[in-house]
Amino acid sequence: MAVSYAHVDRLRRRAELYEELGVLENTQKYKAQAEKYRNQFVQAQASLPKSGRDLPEGVVLEVKDLCMYFGGVKAVDGLSFDVKKGEIFGLIGPNGAGKTTVFNCITQFYKPTAGSLYFENKSGQVVDLNKEVVHDVILQGIVRTFQNVEVVRELSVLDNLLIAGHRQFTSGLFTQALHLPFLKKEEKVVRERALKVLDFMGLTQYKDWYAVGLPYGILKKIEIARTLMCEPQLIILDEPAAGLNDTETAELAKLIRRIKEEYNCTILLVEHDMGLVMEICDRICAISFGKLLITGTPAEVQADPNVQAAYLGVGDDDDFDDDDDEEED
Ligand SMILES: Nc1ncnc2c1ncn2[C@@H]1O[C@H](COP(=O)(O)OP(=O)(O)OP(=O)(O)O)[C@@H](O)[C@H]1O
Ligand SMILES: [Mg+2]
Repeated sequence: MAVSYAHVDRLRRRAELYEELGVLENTQKYKAQAEKYRNQFVQAQASLPKSGRDLPEGVVLEVKDLCMYFGGVKAVDGLSFDVKKGEIFGLIGPNGAGKTTVFNCITQFYKPTAGSLYFENKSGQVVDLNKEVVHDVILQGIVRTFQNVEVVRELSVLDNLLIAGHRQFTSGLFTQALHLPFLKKEEKVVRERALKVLDFMGLTQYKDWYAVGLPYGILKKIEIARTLMCEPQLIILDEPAAGLNDTETAELAKLIRRIKEEYNCTILLVEHDMGLVMEICDRICAISFGKLLITGTPAEVQADPNVQAAYLGVGDDDDFDDDDDEEED
């Protein structure tokens, strides 16, 4: 039988499920099976001509020469950057710079015009994201939020999270169609996970509320909570602070750090709030008109004249800093 990564992953999730249910015998059984098939999978991969490639040490996502054209609009134009495992990485740039388009390419909402996107998934396997279909990217451990909040407003907060957890189910079509007892057990475990996430996010009091009518700050939190239901390896946040007041933004900064620690994941963030970006990001990539300006530490990016020019909308010959440019006669 051909062994796929998805099969190994399903066995691993089933072992975790039995662990949470406290059924030791089945936990061990599925762990052993997952290990066995994982080894077979690794061997099968090794015997194939290399389609993927290794990423540099410590890199979880490599974006290389990425281009996304919409007719004559070059939204992303030859952009390259690396995101390292466990860091908070910021992507900044003026309006229309191409930030959301980069996210849409990584998550395969758009198929890039050119360029490569390699990602190291939960099993340590390097995946060519361009070969993934959009609804399977999540299974590799990449989850995202949207610039315009996308929650199901007609459902309760808890149900929004339960829906997000549905790809984690290990029950097959047969079990689900016939509502076999195992499905009930699995639903219970996913529900408990959702309650834990709500507690972590400070949303427990809203769990039975319909999302419609809830304040914007809470909706944004629900969106982030949903990403935590999907065993995230890389969380992509598109303008999480937009529309939040100063207090909420300060709280968000703490929350993003806590998520990184607690869920042991990497965070890729687009944000216009420079205070937040400079405070929480380990490294930042600045872009303008789809092209790279600089990748560096917050201090390096802040001091870069090209970044200042892009944000202030002035050309190379214009003055940014009167003191520096004052010439003595
Ligand atoms: N689906 C699309 N069809 C045509 N043009 C698009 C599409 N998506 C984005 N663009 C164009 O690509 C460019 C980059 O847009 P994008 O939304 O990625 O910018 P952004 O950096 O996220 O901006 P903002 O900070 O305002 O969110 C813009 O000129 C935009 O009009
Ligand atoms: Mg955008």
